[in-house]
Amino acid sequence: MKTKLGILASGRGSNLGAIIKACNNRTLNAVVEIVISNNPDSGALKIAKQENLEHRCLRPSDYPDADALDRALTETLVAAKIDLVILAGYMKKIGPLTLHRFDHKIINIHPSLLPKFGGKGMYGLKVHQAVIDAGESETGATVHLVDAEYDQGRILEQKKVEIGDNHRDAQTLAARVLEIEHKLYPETINKFIEEQNRENHAHHVARRGS
Ligand code: GRF
Repeated sequence: MKTKLGILASGRGSNLGAIIKACNNRTLNAVVEIVISNNPDSGALKIAKQENLEHRCLRPSDYPDADALDRALTETLVAAKIDLVILAGYMKKIGPLTLHRFDHKIINIHPSLLPKFGGKGMYGLKVHQAVIDAGESETGATVHLVDAEYDQGRILEQKKVEIGDNHRDAQTLAARVLEIEHKLYPETINKFIEEQNRENHAHHVARRGS
């Protein structure tokens, strides 16, 4: 059985594209079951349409408050029978209901070596500019589990990038990091799925034996 992914994305959607590609060429043993965005004009929703994937736009302005949006998100993910929630440039904070229902089943990618250069307000070029301003000699990308705090859940995998003289501006650095994200994210999701399958199997065997 393939793991069913629910992808949440607000912007361009290049990581969504990389995940779809990895599912199609079977390096990622999963299927993108639904794409959800808060942004009707997002590249991510365009990609979902092009690829004939199920998609939904949950606009915050359509809901009376954050709790109602949180409930709608949980219900949408549950209705699609999602196993794993993948944040791919999703700009909204995940609410307590979704966090609880998908505990240890929400994964994010961040374009820095967390815990460095993470937290509220750290997104897009701001991350890379902060890295340059701090005079770092390396940066990279981090895939981690999502909990109630921004960018603080358990780290699953990191990949480093040396900051050479040829990427000393935020845009060039962002492009270099994005390139490694597209490889790191599908690989790490696949590893996480394999680990979970192994754990479930061990649990099953232990129960049968007792
Ligand atoms: C990526 O840099 C990712 O690390 C961050 O948001 C960006 C999303 O880019 N969380 P894209 O929409 O996948 O192209």
